[in-house]
Amino acid sequence: MRTDRGCDEHIRSFAQSNQLQARLHDVVPGGSHTYARGADQYPEYMAPILVRGRGSRVWDVDGNEFVEYGMGLRSVTLGHAYPPVVAAVREAVGDGTNFSRPTIHELTAAEEFLRLVPGADMVKFAKNGSDVTTAAVKLARAATGRRRIAVCEQPFFSTDDWFIGTTPMADGIPDDVRRDTVRFPYNDLRSLAEILDVGDVACVVMEAATATAEPNPGYLEGVRALCDSTGTLLVFDEMITGFRWSVGGAQSVYSVIPDLSCWGKAMGNGFPLAALAGRREYMELGGLRTDRDRVFLLSSTHGPETASLAAFRAVVDAYRHDDPIARMEHAGRLLADGVRAVAAQHGLSEHVEVIGRASCLVFVTRDAELKPSQAYRTLFLQELLRRGVLGQSFVTSAAHTETDVTKTVEAVAEALPIYRQAIDRGSVDGLLQGRPVAPAIRRTAAPRRLH
Ligand SMILES: Cc1ncc(COP(=O)(O)O)c(C=O)c1O
Repeated sequence: MRTDRGCDEHIRSFAQSNQLQARLHDVVPGGSHTYARGADQYPEYMAPILVRGRGSRVWDVDGNEFVEYGMGLRSVTLGHAYPPVVAAVREAVGDGTNFSRPTIHELTAAEEFLRLVPGADMVKFAKNGSDVTTAAVKLARAATGRRRIAVCEQPFFSTDDWFIGTTPMADGIPDDVRRDTVRFPYNDLRSLAEILDVGDVACVVMEAATATAEPNPGYLEGVRALCDSTGTLLVFDEMITGFRWSVGGAQSVYSVIPDLSCWGKAMGNGFPLAALAGRREYMELGGLRTDRDRVFLLSSTHGPETASLAAFRAVVDAYRHDDPIARMEHAGRLLADGVRAVAAQHGLSEHVEVIGRASCLVFVTRDAELKPSQAYRTLFLQELLRRGVLGQSFVTSAAHTETDVTKTVEAVAEALPIYRQAIDRGSVDGLLQGRPVAPAIRRTAAPRRLH
């Protein structure tokens, strides 16, 4: 098995990672506990198995050091092992993590959270974003007595059937569950209005903005008005926008207030914490101060464990005393400018494009015909990995320094002549060392090799 092309100074061994990846495929379906982290998302033979991280850097089992982008599927905004978060967690775990009654952490974390989020009177904590989006859907169905859900055509909302049933990986999900979820395009009020006109829609679930699309003027206000006029609940998924667009999420940035909002990712700077937040009249349906039939709302053994709540409070403190968003945006802007400049030098501005909000940059790779290409994406990833950059995206954290950006732009500058060769030949053949990557959510695994 070749671990590198071995024809220049960028020799990195992935030998141990490759061995461990093969073992992972034997014991974990997909070789990873998250599809987006799978080896199929990386160039073949170049999927590092990591041992530790610090700030913006990570190290793998072969001793390779990388500048990392994406940062734990966007769950880390302050940098890996951010010392105040680590200290807060250490202190909390020293006092025990899980008890028979709520801890003081549960109250203080809830109060601090509610101070940050404009549209929230109450909050309930959980461990995964998927659980809280599913809870929002259940609450909306209970509150309205309706069955259908209108879900925006954005990448991801939950691992649960109501969402996964709309993806190409819907095996095992009953048709009637699938039929209850209707997708609508972003920034298109008319399509949403048509769905709501048909009736029986409990809620609209959407991200107010994504890495690749900001709302057109008046769009979110229009969505809010449509929900109000049809008695439909508006649910904002703030998983990515929370602590990345603003500490108060996209609802603070665009001043459109949802009925319910769903949080997770960066809340604990990598520690597992998620939250369902919203208006009291809905949230109380899961409480004890209601005369209605009760909704079973998010009740789990590990929901309030203290380590993640302590991490969350340290995160809030960091956002209170510093401006991590300004830092990640600064790094993002420098990076976008640098990559755009070197792409232009190679005549590749349309082939390798950096897009998105400065705190949430992604890159698009296109082939010679300017069609988005997984093969060219893989070639780009391969050449960056060989030069010490691990990035399925260019999503920065507050820990990314100008040195990190310079190293990354240099790596891109060296990768682009190889990309240029592929464009000139019209093919990645002979340049890409293995199979191309493929979308994480796809119907069949075959016919590709998986380590
Ligand atoms: C926008 C969005 N919502 C919900 C989720 C689900 O969160 P989790 O992976 O914590 O279940 C994700 C995960 O990537 C996400 O990106």
